[in-house]
Amino acid sequence: MKSKVNIAIDGPAGAGKSTVAKKLADKLSYVYIDTGAMYRALTWKAQREKVNYNDEEKLAELLRRMDLKLSNSSAGTNISVDAEDITSEVREPSVTNEVSYVAKHEAIRKQMVAKQQELAAGGGTVMDGRDIGTAVLPDAAVKFFLNATVDERASRRHQEQLVKGMESDLKLLKEEISLRDKLDSEREFAPLKKAPDAMEVDTTSMSIEEVVNYLYDQVRKQADVH
Ligand code: DC
Repeated sequence: MKSKVNIAIDGPAGAGKSTVAKKLADKLSYVYIDTGAMYRALTWKAQREKVNYNDEEKLAELLRRMDLKLSNSSAGTNISVDAEDITSEVREPSVTNEVSYVAKHEAIRKQMVAKQQELAAGGGTVMDGRDIGTAVLPDAAVKFFLNATVDERASRRHQEQLVKGMESDLKLLKEEISLRDKLDSEREFAPLKKAPDAMEVDTTSMSIEEVVNYLYDQVRKQADVH
């Protein structure tokens, strides 16, 4: 009998987590859960309501009262807050570069982790983020930590933005990614960290398909998934 397990994918910004996690979920007929989108949605809402990022209690209250919904489409995760579709807004640099200031608070992480655990309660998920293997799903059947050099990660983002017709400055992207890495790794609560039992995969010189196939093979080996 097929068992539906949970799979955790962590790693720094731009390591290819979301693309790979989505494709892996499709291949396994699992549900992809993009936890970064949840932190992005709260950051967007805080900007709209002009809540100061240092005001942990106000941010926690905002998160409690907002209706946050994730759904998957062939293009990725669609996200709405209070029935307003903010899928493209949360990917804007104005949100991307500020999420780390919102995501650092303990009260926020506690609520987010509880929501994410609820989403994974039935198994059959591929969840990506920064603290999935360490804090959200410490019992995940298979854990991966995807990594790539900063140069490679910045260059991937640069290509993505050019393809979308956006303005893109490679040097600036590299600085922004390095700063996000630093903030996410050095925060006090649930920092970005490889779980001791996670398998580290350096994707620097791998294509997306190669990474997906490698992870899929590992899942089949490590879990009772067919
Ligand atoms: O994966 P992403 O780029 O969409 O994540 C956006 C930000 O959210 C990232 O800078 C760190 C934060 N994040 C987090 O703190 N914990 C998670 N589980 C996922 C994302």
